[in-house]
Amino acid sequence: MNVTVLENGPLLCSGKITIVYPDGRIEEKQNNTALCRCGASANKPFCDGNHNKIGFKG
Ligand code: FES
Repeated sequence: MNVTVLENGPLLCSGKITIVYPDGRIEEKQNNTALCRCGASANKPFCDGNHNKIGFKG
């Protein structure tokens, strides 16, 4: 699995990842998964594109 930091956007995870939620639920993703790093997503931990709306820089 590779993680790419996209300029002014999410972390792009390429390959299989396992997400473990605070309640113990487990979700596996097989392909490209974008994880929010701006804090504005309404669908955390995933990116929903809101970084564009807030003008996230980073
Ligand atoms: S990085 Fe895309 S919504 Fe936060």
